[in-house]
Formats: sequence, structure tokens, C-alpha cells
Amino acid sequence: MFWTSHPVDKISGIVTAPGDKSCSHRALIFSGLADGTSKISGLLEGEDVLNTGRAMSALGATVDRAGTNQWTVKGVGTAGLVSPSDSLDFGNSGTGSRLIMGVVAGYNISANFTGDASLSSRPMARVITPLKEMGAQFEATDGGRLPLTITGRNPLKPINYCPPQASAQVKSCLLLAGLRAEGTTVITENSTTRDHSERMLRGFGATVSVQSTGEGAIVKIDGGQSLQAQETSVPGDPSSAAFLAAAAIISNQGGVLVENVMSNPTRDGIFRAVALMGAKIGAEEVGLAAGERLINMSFETSPLSGCTVPRNLVPSMIDEFPILAVMAAFADGETIVRDAAELRVKESDRISAVVKMLRVNGVEVEEFEDGFIIQGCGGPVPGGGLVETHHDHRIAMSALIMGTAAQRPVSVDDIAMISTSYPDFFEHMQMLGADMRQTAR
Ligand code: S3P
Repeated sequence: MFWTSHPVDKISGIVTAPGDKSCSHRALIFSGLADGTSKISGLLEGEDVLNTGRAMSALGATVDRAGTNQWTVKGVGTAGLVSPSDSLDFGNSGTGSRLIMGVVAGYNISANFTGDASLSSRPMARVITPLKEMGAQFEATDGGRLPLTITGRNPLKPINYCPPQASAQVKSCLLLAGLRAEGTTVITENSTTRDHSERMLRGFGATVSVQSTGEGAIVKIDGGQSLQAQETSVPGDPSSAAFLAAAAIISNQGGVLVENVMSNPTRDGIFRAVALMGAKIGAEEVGLAAGERLINMSFETSPLSGCTVPRNLVPSMIDEFPILAVMAAFADGETIVRDAAELRVKESDRISAVVKMLRVNGVEVEEFEDGFIIQGCGGPVPGGGLVETHHDHRIAMSALIMGTAAQRPVSVDDIAMISTSYPDFFEHMQMLGADMRQTAR
């Protein structure tokens, strides 16, 4: 069976954004390390996040579901982590696996990390190299991949590290390891990446210093700090909101309000890029959650023009290129994406997957090692294609959104992975008027 998104004339309604995936992982991890019992509300109950909860529980925290999106976590505190009796299975999640490697690295325990086929093909050397420098030991599959075993050490040696790629996962992994180092760990980022760890660690009582260097930042953390249990309310996910936004923007008659979206300059590149292309977007401040600003965002049908995505926006929209590509395909003129080679090592090779998704639906696109150039159709794309998702949730959702406004239906070969990040995707899209159905092959 595959799933088909049939064109509809109108996409409209009000949806509350699901909990942010990055913040949900961090809330579970920091609560699991803290002294005392933390409460988390609005947690994203996607498979990736649930695997992080299971891992923290196998490492000694008590993780319980108290109600829909409500969790309590009794942290290990000064008692510390225990070696898990079984392998920790992170499923599809780069964030869960890389952050928890930083956690395990600072304790005198061993743990085996495993994941699905996609995660097992992704590079882990980016965290193995600095964690080894700090004193942890690794036995990894060839090329620095999962499955791997890590043996931690307490205390770790602090390091001064400049990650070769812009990566919030690497930064956050090293901040967590830095909490267990003897001295100050310094991470120098050439480009600023999402800063949820820095903000949330402060909420849990740690001191983290951040000094902006223009395009990047120097982030410092002192070892020996303990975390204190907190009540965390997880803000809405701008990456999930981007799919709802795109559906409204490319629709014939679109008007969508997405409530409680996290507004953070390290995450809002997609909205800035489509605003440059002419999208009509409104925003109203509604409060704060987990040290982040919350806004209600409105999106309307908008004629779009192609653009060159500014290089400095790339890290702040790194997960949004598949859905940007869909909007670019409906735009008038050319959209150029370069300096985005990191897309090759996401849940799939997203440059190749995006290029194939567009071509099979009649859109002209040129592929580069670090990006693509899309020739916009200046209106509804031909559609009619069956998209290979490569087990990538964001490719699946992007293709289904394309189908809502294409000339002909768009199908995907698999929808299972959508539950890793957006379990309510189909329910929300149906509320807005989309027509997505299972079809026989
Ligand atoms: C994430 C960081 C990004 C992003 C991922 C979530 C995080 O990965 O793509 O979906 O929560 O820190 P990289 O750090 O590999 O860029």
C-alpha cells in the first residue's frame, strides 16, 4: 500500500503546533540527569523522543507518562547513571543517540548504542572524535557508525573544540559531556546552530556562557555542575509548523493559524526564506515556554517568486529544505540552495531525495554536491508521481503537502516514519481540509 495526497481547493483552519522535537529530547535528558522529580508538559510523543525516554530509563532515571503529552521524570542526580542491561535502541534518531553519547561519556559505565538502517548509516565520528579526546572509549562499526559501544570515564578532560560542521547535536553532546569534565569545556561554532540546550540547561540551574562572534558563537560550560528538577512546558515545533505553513501558502485558497510555535532565531530560517519569496506570514507573541518565545503564526495563499537562499540562513532551516523545495517548485522563477552539504547525512541523503521527489512530479531541478537549483512552475506543479521516501519523515510529509495543490495527486511509498516527528500529521492535515488516503499499489 502507498499513500496518496489528492489536490484540494482549500486549506484552512486552526492547529496547535505539536511539541518541539529538539526540546522534547532535551527535556527528557536533562530531567533524567537532574536531582529530584521533573514534570514535562507538551512533550512530543513521537517515536524518536520515546526512544530517548526509554534510553534514560535504561540508564537509571524513572520515566513515567502521567497523561497525554504529560510526563514525570525522577532524575538520577548524584547517584549517577547505571550501565544498561540491554542495548539502547535509538530507532531513527540522530539527536537522541548523539546527545546521550555525551551523557554516557562522563560516567564510569558502558552502553551499546543501536539504531535503524537510516541511523546506522549516519556519521558518528563527529561526536566520537571529541569525546575520545575527553577520555571516553569507543568500539564502533567501520567508518564510525552504529552499532557502537561507549565506555565513559569520570571525570572527563575538558576540551576546546571547534566542530568542522555546523551541528547543534555535536555542540549539545559536548555540553553534556562538559558537565562531567574537570574544568571548562569550550565549543567554538563558526555558524550559530539551534541553542535549545544552552537555554534549557540554564532553566535546570546550570551556568552556560555564550559569546556571539557575529556568524558564530563561543559556548562555555564548567564541569561539576548539577542539574535541579524543573517543570518544563515544551514549546510548539517550528519544523512541524512549516508543513502546515506550506500547505496554506501553495493552496488555491489558504488560511491557516498555527498556535504556540517556538520563535527562535536559530530555528526560523524557513519563515524568513519564504517571506523573501513573497509568502504572507503573520505572527503574534503569546508567551514563553522552556526559555523560548511562543507565537501564533498565520499563513495565507501567496504567489511566490524564486530566491537564492542566503547562506547564513542554512543552519537555522537545516531540517526545512524538503518543504522549502516544494514551495520553490510552485514559485515563479529559480530557487538556488547551496552551502547545504549537511543535507547529505540527514535521515536520508536529502539532496538526492528532494531532487528525485521533484523530478518524478514534473519539476525541473539541477543537483549539486551541496544543494540544488529548482525551476519553479509559477503555479501548481504537474504532480502525478510516486515519491520514494527513503524512510525519511520529512520527505514523506513534503511530498504529501505537494499533492494538496498539484495538478494531479502525489503518492509516497511509505508513511511509517512520519510518527518519528509528527504523529498527528494526518489528523491535522485532515482538519485543514487535505485529502490524503491509502491506495493500493
Ligand atoms: C537537532 C539538530 C540538527 C537537526 C536535527 C535536530 C537537534 O542536526 O537536523 O533534526 O535537536 O540538536 P545537526 O546537529 O546534525 O545539524
